[in-house]
Amino acid sequence: MLVNGKLIASQIVNEIKEIVAKIVGRKPGLTFILVGDDPASESYVRSKDRACAATQIRSSVIRLPNSTSEKDLLAQIDQLNNDKQVDGILVQLPLPSHINESTITQAIDPEKDVDGFHPINLGKLLQGDDSAIIPCTPLGIKVLLEKSQISVSGKHVVIVGRSNIVGKPLAALLMQKKAGCNATVTLCHSQTHHLSDITRSADILIAAIGQPYFIRKEMVKPGAVVVDVGINRVNGKIVGDVDFEEVEKIASHITPVPGGVGPMTIAMLMQNTMTCFLKRTDLV
Ligand code: GUN
Repeated sequence: MLVNGKLIASQIVNEIKEIVAKIVGRKPGLTFILVGDDPASESYVRSKDRACAATQIRSSVIRLPNSTSEKDLLAQIDQLNNDKQVDGILVQLPLPSHINESTITQAIDPEKDVDGFHPINLGKLLQGDDSAIIPCTPLGIKVLLEKSQISVSGKHVVIVGRSNIVGKPLAALLMQKKAGCNATVTLCHSQTHHLSDITRSADILIAAIGQPYFIRKEMVKPGAVVVDVGINRVNGKIVGDVDFEEVEKIASHITPVPGGVGPMTIAMLMQNTMTCFLKRTDLV
């Protein structure tokens, strides 16, 4: 069965739009920083900015050249940290190689960290602290499964990919002792031995490796739930990390690419922006 992330995400975006419409006075505001001219990053920021327009979240995009120094980027972040009109700051990754990503994510005010990449938010996530801002893609996957009535509790969830953006925070999230979590998580990566043996033991298999068609049907247990986080461009077409055509035939549920996890990531960005806004305006 196809898991329709696009539909679920659009319902969430509509709910947020209604909440924003009811806010009297200053509306939530999100600022994007895009460094360089990577076409994929440009396209992601455009999609996120469009979602802001759809929800009436105020947004602006600061475009900086590839040659921007780390010092200048830090100065820009500092200005946004101190701007009372700005509730959320998102620096699109990856950054040019002369800029240290970790230095940049640490410079963002944790209260405006809509990506949830600041060590304070990641640390809170690991501790199960409810005030953590949770990274958008992991949160989107959790909500997508919940809204599709797929419980992860007690199940063997195998994640393939150990990125700071998806794999690591997703493992921390799904293993929490909390409603909608309680999964038994295995995190696999490029150095994992006997990968297929492990993926075949998954009740829920999550592919986040960034390699097109990496997950073949031989790697999937019949009846498993398969979540595809990949966004890869092959011959001008966007494809996931899962060989959809073959795996669809044996999975009980599968997320498509596009139209699966991607729209959920954007919906969760709108949700995280609302959360930051509400906390900053003392409305919660
Ligand atoms: N690059 C790829 N995914 C993301 C994301 O979720 N946030 C940011 N800031 N950059 C990304």
